[in-house]
Amino acid sequence: MRPKVVAGNWKMHMDLESGTQLVRDLLGQLTDIKKSRVVFCPPFPLLYPVGELLKDSEFGLGAQNLFWEEKGAFTGEVSASMLKSVGCQYVIIGHSERRKYFGETDETVNRKIHRALTEGLTPIVCVGETLVEREAGKTHEVVQRQVEGAFQGLSAEAVQNLIIAYEPVWAIGTGKNATPEQAVEVHQLIRQILNQKYGEGIGENVTIQYGGSVNEKNAESLLGQPDIDGALVGGASLKADRFAAIVRIGEQYS
Ligand code: 13P
Repeated sequence: MRPKVVAGNWKMHMDLESGTQLVRDLLGQLTDIKKSRVVFCPPFPLLYPVGELLKDSEFGLGAQNLFWEEKGAFTGEVSASMLKSVGCQYVIIGHSERRKYFGETDETVNRKIHRALTEGLTPIVCVGETLVEREAGKTHEVVQRQVEGAFQGLSAEAVQNLIIAYEPVWAIGTGKNATPEQAVEVHQLIRQILNQKYGEGIGENVTIQYGGSVNEKNAESLLGQPDIDGALVGGASLKADRFAAIVRIGEQYS
């Protein structure tokens, strides 16, 4: 069985005081997590202080974005090696908010994945359809295009070492999560795409999280599915009790 990976994507929330307090509270509450993986993805300025707090724990640290170039005159951008140097092990790539507001495409996502892997960061690659695409019956087509575009030029080995987050855009921040059946259907589709591209069994080795309005109430029905390997949690990761409850459910099914 693939152990569950529960990650908190704080997006553009929290500041130094509230963010470090949240992590302290969670470290106090989550002393019994052994089998599953927990990852905190705070905004850039909080990576270092949060990383310092997590240093002696089993919890991981992830960024929400990176730039694909190694270094240079790219004002406002952050490189993979900078993220590594402050203790990151993970980086979210291609979140739908970045695709929507910041012009990310399958091609930029692909470049970022290559850079992250070169530097030894584990990408959490986000894919997912909009409501219009779902209603037009295009979910499979969209997800296939995103997965194939994101993974151009990657070896089977590289693909097995990254995480995919299926995040239907219509479920993000709306309080309307995908049903377990809807999520499982797309997770299985992603595994099939990977099996076709890389060989039988590869898809089964890849960790696929679900994201989109995951909360302490629906986490059990989602994380209880063998094909859902974890959750990428937005809003509910900003409150210690709520995130801790989701993490505990992940642990129970790991
Ligand atoms: P919500 O959990 O707030 O819907 O956000 C999901 C998400 O976008 C995580 O990356």
